[in-house]
Amino acid sequence: MNRTLGLWGWSRWLKRWFALPLWRQDLGAFTAHLRNWKATGTDSILREVSNRDDALKQDKQLLKWRDFGAGCPPEGSPRTDEIRKLAGSASSDQRKGRWLMSVVRTVAAQKRREVRILELGTCLGSGSDYLASGAPAGAAYHGLEGSEVLADFTRRRLERHRARGVRVAVGVGPFSQTLPVLVGSESRFDVVFLDGCHEGGALMQQWHDIQPLLADGFVVIVDDIRWSSDMFQAWTALSSSKGIMGIDLFRMGVVTASDPVGQPQGNHRVSWLCRA
Ligand SMILES: C[S@@+](CC[C@H](N)C(=O)[O-])C[C@H]1O[C@@H](n2cnc3c(N)ncnc32)[C@H](O)[C@@H]1O
Repeated sequence: MNRTLGLWGWSRWLKRWFALPLWRQDLGAFTAHLRNWKATGTDSILREVSNRDDALKQDKQLLKWRDFGAGCPPEGSPRTDEIRKLAGSASSDQRKGRWLMSVVRTVAAQKRREVRILELGTCLGSGSDYLASGAPAGAAYHGLEGSEVLADFTRRRLERHRARGVRVAVGVGPFSQTLPVLVGSESRFDVVFLDGCHEGGALMQQWHDIQPLLADGFVVIVDDIRWSSDMFQAWTALSSSKGIMGIDLFRMGVVTASDPVGQPQGNHRVSWLCRA
């Protein structure tokens, strides 16, 4: 797996990242996302979500949850953690959140109907909160989370978005059970955030499994693409698939279908300032 650890571990990625071609304004697809990302920098809503996370990072309350992540048996492993530990180690921070929020805003502005969001792995609902914060009333958010306790935490956290008219649902159970049910329901999603399992094989499996769920004009955000060498290999494979174009935000990556005419294929990066 070769996990990325410490300053040395992260710095070895930099040279390759900077070698990627820089996204240019005239290239199309991601230009609107970059514009919206810039506009959200001073957004008070972004600050409010981040403040909620800061409060969780101080919270010493214990949560008993079931872990379905890498290396756990199919029935999950029982864990007990302080909320502040999960908030500090597993939750999206403001840099990632700013992208989550602005991607949803961009897609919502492009659609003539309500935007539909899917998140795999909600944990304490930080990513969910950022995603839902980018969504206008009438939008639909659907989270999938293995742990009942964390799913419940996420639902309560998203109550404020439900109150302003965003439809919220969080399904509980391992993805191997909840994803097929969603596929069977013939739901479609415009924005998908893959943040459940940071192993290359699992990412490729999820990418395959979500294909029937992707609406026209979909955007898929993949978290922790440099968490390990095999995650990065999987990201490279999926973002260079036929008909796909990707933008590399350093810790996260975003893919969408490439326009057959005139659009560049393959991966580009953002500037260092814009990274997630
Ligand atoms: C990194 S955390 C998610 C963080 C969250 N998306 C955010 O942005 O703050 C990963 C979550 O995925 C869940 N998870 C991991 N593997 C899973 C699986 N196979 N089935 C269901 N849930 C899983 C874990 O319980 C954990 O809550």
